[in-house]
Order: sequence, then C-alpha cells, then structure tokens
Amino acid sequence: MASANDNRVIIFDTTLRDGEQSPGASMTLDEKLRVAHALAELKVDVIEAGFAIASNGDFQSVHEIAKQVKGPTICSLARAAKGDIERAAEALEPAENKRIHTFISTSPLHMKYKLQMEPERVLEKVIESVTLARKFTDDVEWSAEDGSRTEHDFLCRCVEAAIDAGATTINIPDTVGYTTPTEYAELMTMLFNRVPNIDKAILSVHCHNDLGMAVANSISAVNAGARQIECTINGLGERAGNAALEEIVMAINTRNDAFPFTTGIDTTKIMNASRLVSAVSGFVVQPNKAIVGANAFAHESGIHQDGFLKNSETYEIMKPESIGLNKSSLVMGKHSGRHAFKEKLKELGFTDLGDNAIEDAFARFKDLADKKKEVYDDDIVALIDDGMRDNEHIKFVGLTVTCGSKGPQTAELELTVDGETRTAKTTGDGPIDATFNAIKEIYPHDWRLKLYQVHAVTEGTDAQGTVTVKLDGEDRTVVGNASDTDTVVASCLAYVTAVNKLIEKSKKTAPDAMAS
Ligand code: KIV
Ligand code: ZN
Repeated sequence: MASANDNRVIIFDTTLRDGEQSPGASMTLDEKLRVAHALAELKVDVIEAGFAIASNGDFQSVHEIAKQVKGPTICSLARAAKGDIERAAEALEPAENKRIHTFISTSPLHMKYKLQMEPERVLEKVIESVTLARKFTDDVEWSAEDGSRTEHDFLCRCVEAAIDAGATTINIPDTVGYTTPTEYAELMTMLFNRVPNIDKAILSVHCHNDLGMAVANSISAVNAGARQIECTINGLGERAGNAALEEIVMAINTRNDAFPFTTGIDTTKIMNASRLVSAVSGFVVQPNKAIVGANAFAHESGIHQDGFLKNSETYEIMKPESIGLNKSSLVMGKHSGRHAFKEKLKELGFTDLGDNAIEDAFARFKDLADKKKEVYDDDIVALIDDGMRDNEHIKFVGLTVTCGSKGPQTAELELTVDGETRTAKTTGDGPIDATFNAIKEIYPHDWRLKLYQVHAVTEGTDAQGTVTVKLDGEDRTVVGNASDTDTVVASCLAYVTAVNKLIEKSKKTAPDAMAS
C-alpha cells in the first residue's frame, strides 16, 4: 500500500461518476464503456464507474465496465445505506479488482440541513457503512462529504472510526470548491498529526473547481502527504467541475523538481482521452485550456514564433508528443487507402472497433474526403464519434433547406421513427429553426432547447462544423453532438441525437441527496 513516504500518487478517475453527474454530460452505456477503455489505456489506477443505486442504467454501466475493463480497480459510489452498498457490490461483482466508495456528509451545515441527523448518528453510520462494505471487498474507501468545512475534532473521530471499521482509503473532499492550497495542506497535516491509526489508510483528496483552485489544492495536499487524487478528464464535473487529471499529471511530470512524485499514467494517451470525453459529453474544451486546449501548444505571435523556431524550449515547457499530440495532424485525402486509415484509427486510440465499424467509418471517411481537401485527426475523431450513436429510435434520412434573405426559410426533412419513415415540410426563422420545427412535427415533444452552438473542427471554409445541442426535459438535460461539412445537417443530427438520449434517459430515476 502506498504511504505518505512513498512518492507514488494513486490516480482515481471519476469522469464517469462525478463528471457524468454534471448536468447535460450524461453518457450512454456504449459511451461510458469507450471512456472506461480509454481510461484503462491511460493507466489510471482506479475508475469510479458510477453510482450503482442511482438507476438501472447506472447499475448496468458499472456492471459492464466491471466485466469488460481490465487493469484499473473498478469502483462504485454508495451512500451510507445498506441498499446502496449491496447494489454497488452486486454491480462490481465481475471486476478483477473492486472498490466500494461509501460517503456521508460530516460538516455542520450538511448534517443539519441536508441529512437532518445528529453528529453521533452520522458517526454510527460511518461505522455501519464501512463495516458492511468490507463484507464485499477488502478495498473500501470512505469519504467525508464537505470534509473541508467539517469541524476538525469531528472529522478526526470519523476518520479514525472509518479506519477502525476497515476503510483502506480516506477521502476528504472539498465538495464546494471553497478551500485554498495552504488551508487544505494544513488539513492533511492536522489529520496526520491527530488521527492515531492514519498510517493504516491512504489519504485521498477530491477537489471541486469553484474558485479555480482544484488542481492547486490537490497538489498542495499531496505535498502534505495525501497519496490519492480524485480527478476527471478535461476537469468535467458539476458546476465549475473537478480537478483536471491532465493538468495534475502534467504538472507533476513537468515540475518534478517542485512536486517529486510519480503516477502510473501513460501521458501519451491524454489527448485521446480528452477528445473522447469532449465528444461523448458534448462539453467542448475551451481553446486556451491548459494541456488539452487547441491553443495549448500553438505559437502565433511573431516574437514567440521566432524564439520557438530557434529553440522550442524558449516558449514550450512540454512537448506536444508527451500528451499524444502529433506535430503534424494532416492525415490523408481521398486517395488514402483502407490500410492507412486503419493505422490512423489505431494511432488515435480507436483500438476496439470491429470490422463492420471500420468499414462503415472508412466509407464515411471517403465521403468526407470527397467534400474536403484535407482531412485532419480531429475530422477523423468527429467522424468516428458520429458513427457510434446507439439506441437510435429516430434516424436521419435526408434534409433539404432553402435559406437566404428573400425567405421564407424552409426545411424538408425525412426521418425514421422506430423504423417507420416520416416526413415534414416546415418554415422557420432561418434554416436551423425550420429544421428543428420539422423534427418537432415528426416527433412532437415539449423539451426545451437550452443551448445551440457550432464549432469548426478544423480550419477553412470546407471545415466540418461540430454542433452541440442541449435539451431540457423530463427532469433531465442531455447533450447531442454531431459533425458535418454542412452545418444545417450537423444541427439536425445533433438535435436528433439529443432527442434519442432523452428518450433513453427518461427511463431512469435518480436517488435522493445525490453526491456532488
Ligand atoms: O464532492 C464530493 O464530496 C463527492 C463525494 C461523494 C466524494 O463527490
Ligand atoms: Zn465531487
């Protein structure tokens, strides 16, 4: 077991649990499996695959990941309740290495208003929940929700009791992203000094990014002796998100003089994981985001370019290759063959596609190469993601629009709904509005459009547009994403994808007092 004297930091990825809890980031089973495989390739130590009791869908995804994904320990979250812990154990049953992560709030505010429980009852529940979880696995993590705002005496009593009951990892979340690097490090030191059995467990940190300090807080806690960091790809997560895995790992690698720790992460797989999570969650990575943003390695200003060309270290502290970013991302054109295409898919991390999926992707690549002179890595990723839609109740068949200043703008749309062909011809305030009206005529619903955005995948007027549509309905928000060189077609596909997800999601139910 790693300890504070050991410099190895355990990377616990919670993209599929805390990240997926972010409104609108919900993923289908297939998408979660793809992300879990990418995390295994990245060599994270633990994958928190979901919250098994949350719904049948969540149970199924934890179970499938436990069955199919080898390498990392697979973990499920559970509240301090018998039903939650038993359901987590059942979902994790096929895993080679499994962890149950049970939690309860310990701050005065949460105990009084959220749990409406006296501290002594909370303490009893800590012991009961960890004791029960240990009946199913030796690897039990206990979290003090809102730990950073918990009274120190009470936190010490809970941590000691959890370790006595068998917890092997103790996690102290900064649930509301309120702490500071110095304060959080002092909290770790306080626990090391005051909890008598603290050496029997790994101390873990879990930081939210409300004040933009999640990564700094996590690393500061590791400097003070914590040896597990909970984080997500692209910093995905509720509100301002969680600590970003790629930033933590690259900070440790690049500034090893200041942070003398190691992780097991294969950093060359970072870019693949980032692209995949962005595509399936619909959360586009901001261009100036550290490590994985499109501009993170771009040198545009003349002075910078001049220095960079003389010696790249003048302005570059990390090599793009170290995160799996190829210097030249121009891949191929319409004369490229199947073999080169397959090699490119492997290089981009699509290692588990079957023959049919590759054939299908190759056909779509050829179509794209006919429309677009130069096909880049990002185009290929967008194309594969588009081909991976599952549970499609509604399928796109064809669309014709008229637009321009003379009006009226119209859309003529053909879709299939559960195999039956349906058409509509509608008008609207512009071609996108007309197209969305046509979808509503074919599949009537009162779900609200919360967000519509378009990004160019690459450069040039022939670039593919990636459209993100966020729909709100039935207590859920979902995101649909699609790319095409025709932005109106991409918009239609993105909207249809969101509708398909809502149809699937409306079958789910959520438990009370979900964790943040
Ligand atoms: O933010 C939080 O407190 C959580 C816990 C359940 C670990 O996500
Ligand atoms: Zn959290």
